[in-house]
Amino acid sequence: MTTKPLPLTPELHAYLVAHGSTPDEVVRDLAEETLAALPGEAVMQVAPEQAAFLTFLTRLLGVRQAVEVGTFTGLSSLAIARGLAEGGRLTCFDISEEYTGVARRYWERAGVQDRIELRIGPAAETLRELPRERYLDFAFIDADKVGYPIYWDELVPRMRPGAVIAVDNTLRDGRVLAPRNADDRAIAAFNDAVIADVRVEAVMLPIADGVTLARVL
Ligand SMILES: C[S@@+](CC[C@H](N)C(=O)[O-])C[C@H]1O[C@@H](n2cnc3c(N)ncnc32)[C@H](O)[C@@H]1O
Repeated sequence: MTTKPLPLTPELHAYLVAHGSTPDEVVRDLAEETLAALPGEAVMQVAPEQAAFLTFLTRLLGVRQAVEVGTFTGLSSLAIARGLAEGGRLTCFDISEEYTGVARRYWERAGVQDRIELRIGPAAETLRELPRERYLDFAFIDADKVGYPIYWDELVPRMRPGAVIAVDNTLRDGRVLAPRNADDRAIAAFNDAVIADVRVEAVMLPIADGVTLARVL
């Protein structure tokens, strides 16, 4: 057993990406368009290896009912939708018509638009409209960081036993160790709350900017 963490150099990261499922033309075009049209915001998009991981995980879990909070131009939602089981549905939440207008085009191009429903509005309010029963198999949280505890509290009671919540940016580029701004502090507090939450068991993975996987008991 090793307790020494492996430093992920840029070369090793490139190797890792090249040895996982590689992005297809739709994903490459979506990443390129997002960077060209929204250069200041493109950093919000999930990493390509993270998108591959989301498809893998969704497929592995046999997900039929999924929710995403924070859709942006659609890369993570596309990845989740592609992994859904036959007849599966993904409900996406975002506040921006502009960003999600791009997402809608790429869902259509990838042929997954029929499985996705988009709800526009502040997720703290729109999530409350979901059925109040334990029916969700998978959720991905990747919206405004200060909202994470609210999204968590809306989602956990709606997850069926054994369902998984994936949460993005839980390492904040390492700044969870020494938070520098409100978002860093929000995530550090959120991480503490997750590990103390007796309704879930959780692991943190050093994928991209840190992904927490919580299995709801
Ligand atoms: C980090 S980006 C999501 C990236 C996306 N998962 C992807 O792979 O491209 C965060 C998104 O959260 C949305 N957002 C911010 N505040 C929100 C709120 N209060 N309710 C819903 N969505 C919100 C933003 O419009 C933005 O599209």
